[in-house]
Amino acid sequence: HAAEAQRTDLMTITRHVLNEQGRHPESRGDFTILLSHIVLGCKFVASAVNKAGLAKLIGLAGDTNVQASNPISDPLYSTLLFLHTNPCDGGWPPRVAVQGEEQKKLDVLSNEVFVKALVSSGRTCVLVSEENEEAIIVDAPLRGNHEFDKIMVTVSSHQKLHGYCVCFDPLDGSSNIDCGVSIGTIFGIYMIKDKDNVTLDDVLQPGTDMLAAGYCMYGSSCTLVLSTGNGVNGFTLDPSLGEFILTHPNIKIPNRGKIYSVNEGNAKNWDAPTAKFVEKCKFPQDGSPSKSLRYIGSMVADVHRTLLYGGIFLYPADQKSPNGKLRYADATLNCKGRVIAEVRYMWHGSVLYEVFPMSFLMEQAGGQAFTGKQRALELVPRKIHDRSPIFLGSYDDVEDIKALYASES
Ligand code: AHG
Ligand code: MN
Ligand code: MN
Ligand code: MN
Repeated sequence: HAAEAQRTDLMTITRHVLNEQGRHPESRGDFTILLSHIVLGCKFVASAVNKAGLAKLIGLAGDTNVQASNPISDPLYSTLLFLHTNPCDGGWPPRVAVQGEEQKKLDVLSNEVFVKALVSSGRTCVLVSEENEEAIIVDAPLRGNHEFDKIMVTVSSHQKLHGYCVCFDPLDGSSNIDCGVSIGTIFGIYMIKDKDNVTLDDVLQPGTDMLAAGYCMYGSSCTLVLSTGNGVNGFTLDPSLGEFILTHPNIKIPNRGKIYSVNEGNAKNWDAPTAKFVEKCKFPQDGSPSKSLRYIGSMVADVHRTLLYGGIFLYPADQKSPNGKLRYADATLNCKGRVIAEVRYMWHGSVLYEVFPMSFLMEQAGGQAFTGKQRALELVPRKIHDRSPIFLGSYDDVEDIKALYASES
Protein backbone atom coordinates (compact mmCIF):
# COMPACT_ATOMS: atom_id res chain seq x y z
CA HIS A 1 0.00 0.00 0.00
CA ALA A 2 2.83 2.36 0.84
CA ALA A 3 4.41 1.81 -2.56
CA GLU A 4 1.08 2.53 -4.23
CA ALA A 5 0.70 5.73 -2.27
CA GLN A 6 4.16 6.81 -3.32
CA ARG A 7 3.38 6.33 -6.94
CA THR A 8 0.23 8.43 -6.90
CA ASP A 9 1.22 11.11 -4.41
CA LEU A 10 4.07 12.87 -6.17
CA MET A 11 6.27 15.24 -4.23
CA THR A 12 7.43 17.67 -6.88
CA ILE A 13 10.24 20.09 -6.15
CA THR A 14 7.79 23.01 -6.15
CA ARG A 15 5.50 21.27 -3.69
CA HIS A 16 8.48 20.44 -1.52
CA VAL A 17 9.74 24.03 -1.44
CA LEU A 18 6.23 25.35 -0.77
CA ASN A 19 5.96 22.91 2.16
CA GLU A 20 9.27 24.14 3.54
CA GLN A 21 8.10 27.69 3.09
CA GLY A 22 5.11 26.92 5.26
CA ARG A 23 7.51 26.97 8.17
CA HIS A 24 8.32 30.62 7.45
CA PRO A 25 5.00 32.45 7.69
CA GLU A 26 6.59 35.73 6.61
CA SER A 27 7.65 34.38 3.21
CA ARG A 28 5.44 34.95 0.23
CA GLY A 29 6.80 32.61 -2.34
CA ASP A 30 9.57 34.73 -3.84
CA PHE A 31 12.06 31.95 -3.34
CA THR A 32 9.68 29.42 -4.88
CA ILE A 33 9.36 31.64 -7.92
CA LEU A 34 13.12 32.05 -8.19
CA LEU A 35 13.62 28.31 -7.87
CA SER A 36 11.03 27.53 -10.52
CA HIS A 37 13.05 29.64 -12.94
CA ILE A 38 16.25 27.80 -12.02
CA VAL A 39 14.38 24.53 -12.56
CA LEU A 40 13.29 25.76 -15.98
CA GLY A 41 16.93 26.45 -16.87
CA CYS A 42 17.89 22.94 -15.71
CA LYS A 43 15.16 21.35 -17.82
CA PHE A 44 16.27 23.31 -20.85
CA VAL A 45 19.90 22.26 -20.39
CA ALA A 46 18.85 18.66 -19.73
CA SER A 47 16.96 18.60 -23.00
CA ALA A 48 19.85 20.28 -24.88
CA VAL A 49 22.38 17.87 -23.34
CA ASN A 50 20.30 14.90 -24.42
CA LYS A 51 20.45 16.16 -27.97
CA ALA A 52 24.11 17.18 -27.81
CA GLY A 53 25.33 14.10 -29.65
CA LEU A 54 22.82 14.80 -32.41
CA ALA A 55 23.65 18.49 -32.60
CA LYS A 56 25.59 18.25 -35.83
CA LEU A 57 22.81 16.23 -37.38
CA ILE A 58 19.64 18.00 -36.26
CA GLY A 59 20.85 21.11 -34.43
CA LEU A 60 20.63 21.88 -30.75
CA ALA A 61 17.37 22.84 -29.07
CA GLY A 62 16.67 26.46 -29.96
CA ASP A 63 17.86 26.03 -33.51
CA THR A 64 15.19 27.41 -35.80
CA ASN A 65 15.00 24.23 -37.85
CA VAL A 66 14.09 22.19 -34.83
CA GLN A 67 11.85 24.84 -33.33
CA ALA A 68 9.90 25.43 -36.50
CA SER A 69 8.49 21.92 -36.38
CA ASN A 70 6.27 22.49 -33.37
CA PRO A 71 7.58 24.78 -30.67
CA ILE A 72 4.39 25.56 -28.83
CA SER A 73 3.24 22.01 -28.15
CA ASP A 74 6.26 21.45 -25.92
CA PRO A 75 5.55 22.84 -22.42
CA LEU A 76 9.18 23.76 -21.97
CA TYR A 77 9.29 25.84 -25.11
CA SER A 78 5.97 27.46 -24.45
CA THR A 79 7.30 28.54 -21.06
CA LEU A 80 10.38 29.88 -22.74
CA LEU A 81 8.16 31.60 -25.26
CA PHE A 82 6.36 33.18 -22.33
CA LEU A 83 9.65 34.37 -20.85
CA HIS A 84 10.93 35.65 -24.12
CA THR A 85 7.88 37.61 -25.12
CA ASN A 86 7.64 39.51 -21.87
CA PRO A 87 8.54 43.19 -22.23
CA CYS A 88 11.98 43.00 -20.63
CA ASP A 89 13.44 40.63 -23.12
CA GLY A 90 14.04 39.88 -26.77
CA GLY A 91 11.57 38.21 -29.07
CA TRP A 92 10.86 34.72 -30.22
CA PRO A 93 12.54 32.51 -31.20
CA PRO A 94 15.26 33.14 -28.61
CA ARG A 95 18.59 33.87 -30.20
CA VAL A 96 20.21 31.32 -27.98
CA ALA A 97 21.27 28.57 -30.33
CA VAL A 98 21.85 30.25 -33.62
CA GLN A 99 24.56 32.73 -34.37
CA GLY A 100 25.27 33.02 -38.04
CA GLU A 101 25.47 29.50 -39.31
CA GLU A 102 27.05 28.14 -36.21
CA GLN A 103 25.64 26.27 -33.26
CA LYS A 104 26.57 27.82 -29.98
CA LYS A 105 28.66 25.80 -27.64
CA LEU A 106 26.53 24.07 -25.07
CA ASP A 107 28.02 25.95 -22.13
CA VAL A 108 27.41 29.32 -23.79
CA LEU A 109 23.87 28.30 -24.69
CA SER A 110 23.25 27.11 -21.12
CA ASN A 111 24.57 30.37 -19.75
CA GLU A 112 22.22 32.45 -21.88
CA VAL A 113 19.25 30.33 -20.87
CA PHE A 114 20.05 30.65 -17.17
CA VAL A 115 20.70 34.39 -17.30
CA LYS A 116 17.40 34.97 -19.07
CA ALA A 117 15.43 32.60 -16.86
CA LEU A 118 16.90 34.22 -13.72
CA VAL A 119 16.35 37.81 -14.82
CA SER A 120 12.79 37.06 -15.91
CA SER A 121 12.01 35.59 -12.48
CA GLY A 122 11.81 39.22 -11.39
CA ARG A 123 13.54 38.21 -8.17
CA THR A 124 17.24 38.57 -8.93
CA CYS A 125 19.50 41.55 -8.32
CA VAL A 126 23.02 40.26 -8.99
CA LEU A 127 24.09 37.28 -11.10
CA VAL A 128 27.56 35.79 -11.15
CA SER A 129 28.22 33.21 -13.84
CA GLU A 130 31.36 31.30 -14.66
CA GLU A 131 30.80 32.32 -18.26
CA ASN A 132 30.63 36.07 -17.61
CA GLU A 133 33.75 37.85 -16.54
CA GLU A 134 31.76 40.64 -14.90
CA ALA A 135 28.88 40.25 -12.48
CA ILE A 136 25.49 41.07 -13.98
CA ILE A 137 23.70 43.78 -12.01
CA VAL A 138 20.04 43.36 -12.89
CA ASP A 139 18.25 46.53 -13.98
CA ALA A 140 16.35 48.08 -11.09
CA PRO A 141 12.88 47.68 -12.67
CA LEU A 142 13.44 43.94 -12.97
CA ARG A 143 14.38 43.39 -9.33
CA GLY A 144 10.88 42.63 -8.22
CA ASN A 145 8.97 45.44 -9.78
CA HIS A 146 5.20 45.13 -9.53
CA GLU A 147 4.45 46.17 -13.08
CA PHE A 148 6.81 43.52 -14.27
CA ASP A 149 5.55 41.07 -11.70
CA LYS A 150 1.93 41.29 -12.78
CA ILE A 151 3.00 39.49 -15.89
CA MET A 152 4.58 36.65 -13.97
CA VAL A 153 2.36 36.14 -10.93
CA THR A 154 -0.42 37.85 -9.09
CA VAL A 155 0.82 39.78 -6.08
CA SER A 156 -0.86 42.62 -4.32
CA SER A 157 0.86 45.88 -5.07
CA HIS A 158 1.77 46.91 -1.50
CA GLN A 159 4.07 43.93 -1.03
CA LYS A 160 7.80 44.38 -1.17
CA LEU A 161 9.36 41.52 -3.07
CA HIS A 162 12.48 39.74 -1.97
CA GLY A 163 15.57 40.03 -4.13
CA TYR A 164 18.28 37.44 -4.52
CA CYS A 165 21.81 37.02 -5.80
CA VAL A 166 22.53 33.87 -7.72
CA CYS A 167 26.03 32.58 -8.39
CA PHE A 168 26.16 29.74 -10.88
CA ASP A 169 28.18 27.57 -13.16
CA PRO A 170 25.72 26.91 -15.99
CA LEU A 171 27.55 23.89 -17.32
CA ASP A 172 30.29 22.30 -15.31
CA GLY A 173 32.45 19.53 -16.66
CA SER A 174 32.50 20.85 -20.19
CA SER A 175 35.38 18.59 -21.20
CA ASN A 176 32.92 15.71 -20.81
CA ILE A 177 30.25 17.09 -23.18
CA ASP A 178 31.53 15.67 -26.42
CA CYS A 179 31.87 12.13 -25.10
CA GLY A 180 28.45 12.06 -23.44
CA VAL A 181 29.71 11.78 -19.85
CA SER A 182 27.80 13.39 -16.95
CA ILE A 183 27.91 17.17 -16.61
CA GLY A 184 25.99 19.56 -14.39
CA THR A 185 24.85 23.00 -13.28
CA ILE A 186 25.82 24.42 -9.86
CA PHE A 187 24.14 27.33 -8.06
CA GLY A 188 24.30 29.24 -4.80
CA ILE A 189 21.69 31.77 -3.65
CA TYR A 190 22.01 34.78 -1.35
CA MET A 191 19.39 37.22 -0.15
CA ILE A 192 20.07 40.81 -1.12
CA LYS A 193 20.43 43.34 1.71
CA ASP A 194 19.05 46.42 0.03
CA LYS A 195 17.37 46.05 -3.34
CA ASP A 196 17.73 49.73 -4.11
CA ASN A 197 21.44 49.67 -3.40
CA VAL A 198 22.87 46.66 -5.16
CA THR A 199 26.65 46.32 -5.17
CA LEU A 200 29.25 43.63 -5.76
CA ASP A 201 29.55 43.27 -2.00
CA ASP A 202 26.20 41.54 -2.05
CA VAL A 203 27.91 38.50 -3.56
CA LEU A 204 31.33 38.88 -1.94
CA GLN A 205 30.03 37.32 1.25
CA PRO A 206 31.20 34.24 3.14
CA GLY A 207 29.49 30.98 2.22
CA THR A 208 27.92 30.84 5.67
CA ASP A 209 25.58 33.62 4.49
CA MET A 210 24.21 31.48 1.69
CA LEU A 211 20.47 30.91 1.76
CA ALA A 212 20.31 27.89 -0.51
CA ALA A 213 22.49 25.92 -2.87
CA GLY A 214 22.17 23.06 -5.27
CA TYR A 215 23.24 21.36 -8.44
CA CYS A 216 21.61 19.55 -11.29
CA MET A 217 23.39 16.55 -12.77
CA TYR A 218 22.76 15.62 -16.38
CA GLY A 219 23.68 11.97 -16.11
CA SER A 220 22.07 8.63 -16.79
CA SER A 221 19.15 10.39 -15.18
CA CYS A 222 18.74 14.08 -14.46
CA THR A 223 18.97 14.76 -10.71
CA LEU A 224 18.59 18.05 -8.90
CA VAL A 225 20.02 18.20 -5.39
CA LEU A 226 18.95 21.12 -3.24
CA SER A 227 19.40 22.48 0.24
CA THR A 228 17.63 25.49 1.67
CA GLY A 229 19.54 25.12 4.92
CA ASN A 230 17.36 22.36 6.31
CA GLY A 231 19.03 19.19 5.09
CA VAL A 232 19.60 18.00 1.54
CA ASN A 233 17.03 16.57 -0.85
CA GLY A 234 17.40 14.99 -4.27
CA PHE A 235 14.83 15.20 -7.07
CA THR A 236 14.86 13.22 -10.29
CA LEU A 237 13.42 14.59 -13.51
CA ASP A 238 10.56 12.46 -14.79
CA PRO A 239 10.86 13.27 -18.49
CA SER A 240 7.30 12.20 -19.22
CA LEU A 241 5.96 14.67 -16.64
CA GLY A 242 8.64 17.32 -17.04
CA GLU A 243 8.73 17.47 -13.24
CA PHE A 244 11.46 16.92 -10.68
CA ILE A 245 10.14 14.34 -8.19
CA LEU A 246 11.57 13.85 -4.69
CA THR A 247 13.53 10.59 -4.94
CA HIS A 248 16.31 11.13 -2.38
CA PRO A 249 14.77 12.66 0.75
CA ASN A 250 17.08 13.90 3.50
CA ILE A 251 20.42 12.78 2.04
CA LYS A 252 23.06 12.02 4.69
CA ILE A 253 26.63 11.30 3.66
CA PRO A 254 28.22 8.24 5.33
CA ASN A 255 30.68 9.26 8.08
CA ARG A 256 33.46 7.46 6.32
CA GLY A 257 33.83 6.38 2.71
CA LYS A 258 35.80 3.90 0.66
CA ILE A 259 36.49 6.21 -2.28
CA TYR A 260 38.84 9.14 -2.95
CA SER A 261 38.44 11.36 -5.98
CA VAL A 262 41.21 13.57 -7.37
CA ASN A 263 43.05 14.31 -10.59
CA GLU A 264 46.18 12.33 -9.80
CA GLY A 265 47.86 13.57 -12.95
CA ASN A 266 48.67 16.73 -10.98
CA ALA A 267 50.42 14.81 -8.19
CA LYS A 268 53.85 16.27 -8.93
CA ASN A 269 52.54 19.73 -7.96
CA TRP A 270 50.74 18.76 -4.75
CA ASP A 271 51.66 20.06 -1.33
CA ALA A 272 52.87 17.61 1.33
CA PRO A 273 49.56 17.04 3.20
CA THR A 274 47.69 16.22 -0.01
CA ALA A 275 50.43 13.86 -1.17
CA LYS A 276 50.51 12.17 2.23
CA PHE A 277 46.72 11.83 2.29
CA VAL A 278 46.54 10.17 -1.13
CA GLU A 279 49.46 7.90 -0.24
CA LYS A 280 47.49 6.77 2.82
CA CYS A 281 44.42 6.09 0.67
CA LYS A 282 46.51 3.68 -1.40
CA PHE A 283 48.82 2.26 1.27
CA PRO A 284 47.02 2.52 4.62
CA GLN A 285 49.36 1.85 7.55
CA ASP A 286 46.66 1.17 10.12
CA GLY A 287 45.35 -2.10 8.71
CA SER A 288 42.32 -0.49 7.08
CA PRO A 289 41.56 -1.47 3.45
CA SER A 290 42.88 0.78 0.70
CA LYS A 291 40.40 3.17 -0.91
CA SER A 292 39.13 3.04 -4.49
CA LEU A 293 39.84 5.90 -6.88
CA ARG A 294 36.95 7.35 -8.88
CA TYR A 295 37.42 10.54 -10.91
CA ILE A 296 34.97 11.62 -13.58
CA GLY A 297 36.30 15.14 -14.13
CA SER A 298 32.89 16.74 -13.68
CA MET A 299 32.69 18.24 -10.21
CA VAL A 300 28.93 17.74 -10.08
CA ALA A 301 29.16 14.04 -10.83
CA ASP A 302 32.15 13.49 -8.55
CA VAL A 303 30.47 15.36 -5.69
CA HIS A 304 27.14 13.61 -6.29
CA ARG A 305 28.75 10.21 -5.98
CA THR A 306 30.64 11.37 -2.88
CA LEU A 307 27.38 12.57 -1.31
CA LEU A 308 25.57 9.28 -1.92
CA TYR A 309 28.37 6.74 -1.39
CA GLY A 310 30.67 8.65 0.94
CA GLY A 311 34.37 9.35 0.54
CA ILE A 312 36.34 12.45 -0.27
CA PHE A 313 36.71 14.76 -3.25
CA LEU A 314 39.90 16.81 -3.58
CA TYR A 315 40.75 19.92 -5.61
CA PRO A 316 44.13 20.46 -3.99
CA ALA A 317 46.36 23.49 -4.14
CA ASP A 318 49.44 22.96 -6.19
CA GLN A 319 52.81 24.68 -6.20
CA LYS A 320 52.06 26.49 -9.41
CA SER A 321 48.89 28.04 -8.00
CA PRO A 322 48.73 28.07 -4.21
CA ASN A 323 45.14 29.31 -4.24
CA GLY A 324 43.88 26.42 -6.30
CA LYS A 325 43.23 26.95 -9.95
CA LEU A 326 42.50 30.37 -11.37
CA ARG A 327 40.31 31.11 -14.31
CA TYR A 328 40.13 34.87 -14.44
CA ALA A 329 43.36 36.26 -13.12
CA ASP A 330 43.90 39.92 -12.38
CA ALA A 331 47.19 39.85 -14.19
CA THR A 332 47.53 42.13 -17.19
CA LEU A 333 50.48 42.83 -19.43
CA ASN A 334 51.19 46.53 -19.67
CA CYS A 335 53.20 48.32 -22.29
CA LYS A 336 53.81 52.06 -21.92
CA GLY A 337 50.79 52.33 -19.64
CA ARG A 338 48.51 50.47 -22.03
CA VAL A 339 47.10 47.02 -21.37
CA ILE A 340 48.30 44.85 -24.25
CA ALA A 341 47.26 41.45 -22.95
CA GLU A 342 45.24 39.89 -20.21
CA VAL A 343 46.71 36.85 -18.54
CA ARG A 344 44.10 34.18 -17.99
CA TYR A 345 44.63 30.90 -16.26
CA MET A 346 42.23 28.05 -16.86
CA TRP A 347 42.16 26.53 -13.41
CA HIS A 348 39.32 25.20 -11.27
CA GLY A 349 37.82 25.40 -7.76
CA SER A 350 35.78 28.64 -8.01
CA VAL A 351 34.70 29.89 -4.62
CA LEU A 352 31.32 31.43 -5.51
CA TYR A 353 29.85 28.85 -7.88
CA GLU A 354 31.72 25.64 -7.11
CA VAL A 355 33.31 25.62 -3.65
CA PHE A 356 30.53 27.37 -1.70
CA PRO A 357 27.47 25.55 -3.07
CA MET A 358 29.13 22.13 -2.81
CA SER A 359 30.45 22.88 0.70
CA PHE A 360 27.00 24.04 1.80
CA LEU A 361 25.44 20.79 0.56
CA MET A 362 28.17 18.68 2.19
CA GLU A 363 27.71 20.31 5.58
CA GLN A 364 23.95 20.06 5.29
CA ALA A 365 24.35 16.33 4.59
CA GLY A 366 26.56 15.82 7.65
CA GLY A 367 29.92 16.01 5.91
CA GLN A 368 32.63 18.66 5.92
CA ALA A 369 34.40 20.99 3.51
CA PHE A 370 37.93 22.29 4.19
CA THR A 371 40.28 24.49 2.19
CA GLY A 372 43.55 23.29 3.70
CA LYS A 373 43.44 26.28 6.02
CA GLN A 374 39.88 26.74 7.20
CA ARG A 375 36.24 25.71 6.96
CA ALA A 376 35.44 26.39 3.31
CA LEU A 377 32.17 28.25 3.98
CA GLU A 378 34.04 30.81 6.09
CA LEU A 379 36.12 32.01 3.16
CA VAL A 380 35.45 35.62 2.19
CA PRO A 381 35.94 36.04 -1.57
CA ARG A 382 37.61 39.26 -2.69
CA LYS A 383 36.73 38.84 -6.36
CA ILE A 384 33.82 37.10 -7.98
CA HIS A 385 36.00 34.53 -9.76
CA ASP A 386 38.27 33.80 -6.79
CA ARG A 387 39.46 30.22 -6.53
CA SER A 388 40.36 27.99 -3.65
CA PRO A 389 41.59 24.49 -2.97
CA ILE A 390 38.82 22.31 -1.56
CA PHE A 391 38.58 18.99 0.25
CA LEU A 392 35.03 17.83 0.85
CA GLY A 393 33.10 14.71 1.73
CA SER A 394 32.60 12.27 4.59
CA TYR A 395 33.12 13.82 8.03
CA ASP A 396 35.87 11.45 9.17
CA ASP A 397 37.74 11.46 5.87
CA VAL A 398 37.90 15.27 5.94
CA GLU A 399 39.05 15.06 9.58
CA ASP A 400 42.03 13.05 8.33
CA ILE A 401 43.14 15.66 5.82
CA LYS A 402 42.60 18.40 8.42
CA ALA A 403 44.90 16.52 10.79
CA LEU A 404 47.59 16.30 8.11
CA TYR A 405 47.45 20.04 7.49
CA ALA A 406 47.47 20.73 11.23
CA SER A 407 50.53 18.57 11.81
CA GLU A 408 52.35 20.41 9.02
CA SER A 409 52.09 23.86 10.48
P1 AHG B 1 34.09 23.83 -16.25
O1 AHG B 1 33.71 22.77 -17.20
O2 AHG B 1 32.91 24.49 -15.63
O3 AHG B 1 35.06 24.82 -16.81
O4 AHG B 1 34.83 23.14 -14.99
C1 AHG B 1 35.40 21.89 -15.08
C2 AHG B 1 36.02 21.55 -13.75
C3 AHG B 1 35.21 20.58 -12.89
O5 AHG B 1 33.99 20.24 -13.30
C4 AHG B 1 36.04 19.35 -12.88
O6 AHG B 1 35.89 18.70 -11.68
C5 AHG B 1 37.39 19.86 -13.18
O7 AHG B 1 37.24 20.95 -14.01
C6 AHG B 1 38.27 18.85 -13.82
O8 AHG B 1 39.52 19.41 -13.97
P2 AHG B 1 40.77 18.51 -14.34
O9 AHG B 1 40.51 18.00 -15.71
O10 AHG B 1 41.91 19.47 -14.24
O11 AHG B 1 40.84 17.42 -13.31
MN1 MN C 1 33.07 24.79 -13.50
MN1 MN D 1 31.30 25.74 -16.47
MN1 MN E 1 33.70 25.99 -18.73
